[in-house]
Amino acid sequence: MTEEIREQPKKRMLSGIKPSGDLTLGSYLGAIRNWGARSEEFDCFYFMADLHAITVRQNPADLRRRTLEQLAQYIACGLDPEKNTLFIQSQVPQHAELGWVLNCYAMFGELSRMTQFKDKSAKNADNINGGLFTYPSLMAADILLYQPDYVPVGEDQKQHVELCHTIARRFNGIYGDVFKLPEPYVPKVGARIMSLTNPTAKMSKSENEDTGRVLLMDTPETIMRQFKRAITDSDTENCVHYDKEKKPGVSNLMTIYSACTGKSYAEIEQEFAGCGYGKFKPAVGETVVETLRPIREEAQRIMKDKAYLESVYKEGARRASFVAEKTMRKVYKKVGFIGR
Ligand code: TRP
Repeated sequence: MTEEIREQPKKRMLSGIKPSGDLTLGSYLGAIRNWGARSEEFDCFYFMADLHAITVRQNPADLRRRTLEQLAQYIACGLDPEKNTLFIQSQVPQHAELGWVLNCYAMFGELSRMTQFKDKSAKNADNINGGLFTYPSLMAADILLYQPDYVPVGEDQKQHVELCHTIARRFNGIYGDVFKLPEPYVPKVGARIMSLTNPTAKMSKSENEDTGRVLLMDTPETIMRQFKRAITDSDTENCVHYDKEKKPGVSNLMTIYSACTGKSYAEIEQEFAGCGYGKFKPAVGETVVETLRPIREEAQRIMKDKAYLESVYKEGARRASFVAEKTMRKVYKKVGFIGR
């Protein structure tokens, strides 16, 4: 056996990211920033979910670019490819294979009840395709192939993880213990960053600048413009004070400033006492520019190094498919296929 047999004292964690939009300041401060440190505690698998991305029509050149850009950005944010398995979903054929099998163990009624399916069908009424409908079976396959202990996902994906449990329990009920049931993982740290122009809605990776989002790859000029236009609250106080209910705009800016500098809300209030919003907004902008600068520069450098990127995703796919194939063999045997 040439493949090293790794002792596995660490718990395994897996998550997928759909390369359908550019990463934002919100995804960075809220999640990705903390992922680098996780690899000390967990055996982590992260993949670019390009198979999932095509459930909505994509421009092929954009999809290719975004998939690689996202990989470069994750590395630039501190995810070390030596310590984490980073791969591209379509390069590990077991995902599509198990996805098909699990389709046969997911019920029409269950898939019909998924809120993401209902939302996306409403938004893409002219393209309600089979992939959109069976998205959760593929996602269950992504997870179950790796027998992870934890699956970190956002609130909007919890229903999919629950359906993954239902499918796995059904399969295990028929064939014995094939799949491990992972627990959802709620990270202890991570700030929830809201839109700069609509501070009661989460900052989204929308195409549209007007939605008050800041992208990881935005230039300093764009970032400063976004912060200068940020909505502050219409109270007459005009003072930097944290109150999420009454002052959502300023409070969001304080959360961002705090996440970038490590300062507490009390310290920030003191620092900007008597300054008003006019001074606070560009100050937050400048801090964000400096926080994102090294990430942007590193991601740009990595993007130019195509040979390095290729070595990362090839090695990632090799490691991932080694683990995935073990599960796949078991599954094919259980359902009655002839071994390959
Ligand atoms: N559905 C997830 C999203 O839209 C992405 C995803 C695909 C995923 N497969 C996964 C997340 C497996 C966790 C585990 O964000």
